[in-house]
Order: sequence, then structure tokens, then C-alpha cells
Amino acid sequence: MEKRECGNHAIDQNAGQNIMPRRNTGNLNYLNVDMQVANPSEAAALFDLHQAHHFGEFEYSSEQHCKQDLFPKWHLPMKTASVISLLTFIYTSMRDVIYPFITRKENVFYKIPILVINKVLPVTSITLLALVYLPGILAAGFQLYFGTKYKRFPQWLDRWMLSRKQFGLLSFFFATLHACYSLCYPMRRSYRYKLLNWAFQQVKQKKENAWIEHDVWRMEIYVSLGILGLALLALLAITSIPSVSHSLTWREFHCIQSKMGYLSLLLCTVHALVFAWNKWVDASQFIWYTPPSFMVAVFLPSVVLLCKCVLLLPCFRKRIRKIRSGWEAKTQANQTSITSRL
Ligand code: HEM
Repeated sequence: MEKRECGNHAIDQNAGQNIMPRRNTGNLNYLNVDMQVANPSEAAALFDLHQAHHFGEFEYSSEQHCKQDLFPKWHLPMKTASVISLLTFIYTSMRDVIYPFITRKENVFYKIPILVINKVLPVTSITLLALVYLPGILAAGFQLYFGTKYKRFPQWLDRWMLSRKQFGLLSFFFATLHACYSLCYPMRRSYRYKLLNWAFQQVKQKKENAWIEHDVWRMEIYVSLGILGLALLALLAITSIPSVSHSLTWREFHCIQSKMGYLSLLLCTVHALVFAWNKWVDASQFIWYTPPSFMVAVFLPSVVLLCKCVLLLPCFRKRIRKIRSGWEAKTQANQTSITSRL
């Protein structure tokens, strides 16, 4: 029986298959598996644990409560999301608020609560979504390099793989907030004043029609793609709920979490690309020699999607499939690892 270490827990792959008889396709770590309530006996044990915790309220002292680790699986995703949000907030504030203030003495601090935040939210969301799929790609690269599925992943990769669900849920949370912020744009007073000013300018210039065809198309397309991307993220979030995921077969679960996940990443990336439209070639977007936030936002997702396309090439796909079904290549690295195992 082969064993792989997973953080501090040794996961027995075959035992994993016994726990979830309907999801028995090889490498458990590759896919986003919630093993918390896998079979009835385990569910009962967890229920007991839950009850114990519930009643523990009356039995344990507050110091004992403090010693319990709160939401351990959420630590890494929450820290990552906080760091990305903070950096994006500083970056966007510098470009959109501080730059006009310093160079033109223009006071646009009103942009912070909605416009700046609504750049922080999508950038964080799409980056977190890319971080859901990046470890799978790294794991595939690792397996291709060593030519085996039996070599342990580094501990950091294991930890990352185990928190993909939390990364995905956080991404959905940020995307939902981004959609709410975006949809309230026309309600803002600043927007109404701007609209009035544009209308006035138009009258002054004696222009009858303000319609710009390509801008209309740009907005119709990117908003539609954003809505579709968000809908798929909602589907992924729903199917990650244990009661829902356990009603699916392994194949159905994998199809939704992997294929639909990549599709949502693609839709969201194209959404950001179409939003940018011709700003890609606009030199004035490079404020203080820094690229606009949409370029920063699409960088990691594009790398992930590109790597996925490479892994989908028949030569790599066939090899990964073979490796995951137990085949081992006779590579130098692999031989060394076999010798050290002996
Ligand atoms: C109902 C769904 C959505 C709507 C209505 C929507 C709308 C918008 C709007 C209006 C903008 C332009 C923001 C601005 O003016 O600064 C935008 C930009 C963007 N959106 Fe969305 N969006 C949606 C879903 C999503 C989703 C699901 C993602 C990814 C997870 C996403 C990622 C982005 C990114 C990366 C940008 C570029 C932000 C930047 O300028 O740096 N959007 N979206």
C-alpha cells in the first residue's frame, strides 16, 4: 500500500478510496476533495464531535477555548487574500488618487470608497481564482518531472492543494462584492454629475449623438462575460458544499470543479481583457511607469491558462494519465528516489 504524507497527516491513498467508494480515481491530492464527512460512520463521529464542541461551551474554560485553532484551513487563503488586497489598494490609490493630486492638484479622494475598492475586489478575486488552479499545474509538472505519482509533493504544495476550496470560496466572495459594487455605479451622485457635465459639453459642441459603437460593444461583452463568470463561480461554490458534493459521483464532481473552474477562469480573464479593450496600447495608462491594474490582474490567470493549454497537449496529457494510473518513468531523478527508498 502506498502512502503519501499530507501536511502532518499521512494519507493512505487506497484507504481514501475506501472512504469514498464512488470517487476512486487515483491521486486524491490532485483534486479538491473535502474528506470531512465521507461515510456514515465518519459523519456520525463528526456529529458527535460537533455535539461535544457545542456542549463544550458549558464545560471548557475560556482559556481552553482560546487554545483551539480557529478555522485552520482558512489561514493561508485569508492571509494571501489580505496581502493581495492591501497591495492592490496601495497600488491603485497611488495611481488613481495620489497621482492626480500630486501632478494636477486634483482632489479625487471620493474615488476611494467605490472606484478604488472596485479595482481591489476583482484583482484579488481573479488572482485567488488563479491560485486555485496553479497548484494543480505545479503538481502535474512535479509528476512529469519525477515521472511518478508516488513521490511526495513538497509540504508547501500539499498545504496549498488542501486549501484550494477555501481559495475558491474567497474568490467567489470577492467576485460577488465586485459585481455588487459594479452594478451600483450608475447610482452614485458623482456619476450623475459627470453625466450632466458630459451632456452639457455635448450641447456646447453641438453634438447630437454621443453613441460610440465600439464602446457600446465593449461594455455589452465584458459585462455579459462577467455575469457568466460569476454564475460559474456560484456553481463551483455550491458544489463544494459537502452535502452537495457527496451527492455527486467523482466524475461529476471533477467535471464541475476542474473543467467548469477553468472555464470560469477563462471567462473572467476575457472579461478583464475586453474591459481593457484598446487601453492595452494606450501609453497614458502607464502612470509613474506602472502598468494599469487590469494588466496586473490578468497576468497570473493568463500564465495558469497557458500552462493548462500546454499540459493539454497530447504528449503531456498521455504521460500524466499514465503516471496517475501508476506507471513510473525511469528518469534519473526517479531512480535516485527509488534507491533512497530502498
Ligand atoms: C455580475 C458580474 C460582473 C460584473 C457586472 C462586472 C463588472 C465589471 C466592471 C463594471 C468593471 C470595470 C471596473 C472599473 O471601472 O474599474 C470590471 C472590471 C473587472 N472585473 Fe468584473 N464584473 C463581474 C464579474 C467579474 C468576475 C466574476 C471577475 C473575476 C473573478 C471579474 C474580474 C474583473 C477584473 C479583473 C476587472 C479589471 C479591474 C481593473 O481595472 O483592474 N469581474 N468588472
